[in-house]
Amino acid sequence: MDAAPPRLVIVAAVGRNGAIGARDQLPWRLRTDLRRYRAITMGKPMIMGRKTFESIGKPLPGRETILLSREGGATADGVFVARNLEAALRIATDRARVMNTNEIIVAGGADIYAQLIDRADTLRITEVDLAPDADAFFPTINPALWREAGREIHPAGPEDEAAFAFVDYDRRERDTPLG
Ligand SMILES: NC(=O)c1ccc[n+]([C@@H]2O[C@H](COP(=O)([O-])OP(=O)(O)OC[C@H]3O[C@@H](n4cnc5c(N)ncnc54)[C@H](OP(=O)(O)O)[C@@H]3O)[C@@H](O)[C@H]2O)c1
Repeated sequence: MDAAPPRLVIVAAVGRNGAIGARDQLPWRLRTDLRRYRAITMGKPMIMGRKTFESIGKPLPGRETILLSREGGATADGVFVARNLEAALRIATDRARVMNTNEIIVAGGADIYAQLIDRADTLRITEVDLAPDADAFFPTINPALWREAGREIHPAGPEDEAAFAFVDYDRRERDTPLG
């Protein structure tokens, strides 16, 4: 019998104005969020757009990257290049089995979130209490489709530029009425 397919989990830090990036960088410094990001992505395959991969500058240790690029491009240990979404999802599903995890992380950026939000099972959003100038934004989280499943509010730590909240959303059953 086939195992259940891995869950598709979007992980993103999002400003009050929907901002996620500016000039190919994160528009804030939040050490606490980076620590949590590491913890929730460790040991999992991550689907990532080419621009986000270049902005990080290297494969993240302990994780595997499925790099989306229509051009193909250079690869490195732990990096698999996919030229379209279906290939990325197929590779990520195979790698999740090899890595013995039931989650595939969707790691952005804006282009990739917009293409995969309709297929995701869970959103793990860091709501950042800032509204910076930005050129990359998270898609609207439609409350008819997404149910808030948990919220942890945090004041800014010593190495955080702002307060933030960790908010998880689960996809509502397709035909559950709002309420
Ligand atoms: N706040 C957060 O949590 C967070 C997380 C991640 C990223 N970010 C930010 O988001 C920004 C980058 O987002 P972005 O939208 O500009 O770029 P992106 O999504 O990282 O990458 C876009 C690239 O991915 C490739 N691509 C997209 N769709 C594809 C498809 N269906 N098939 C094959 N390849 C595909 C293309 O690469 P080619 O041009 O090579 O074909 C495209 O140019 C940066 O500022 C980054 O810091 C923020």
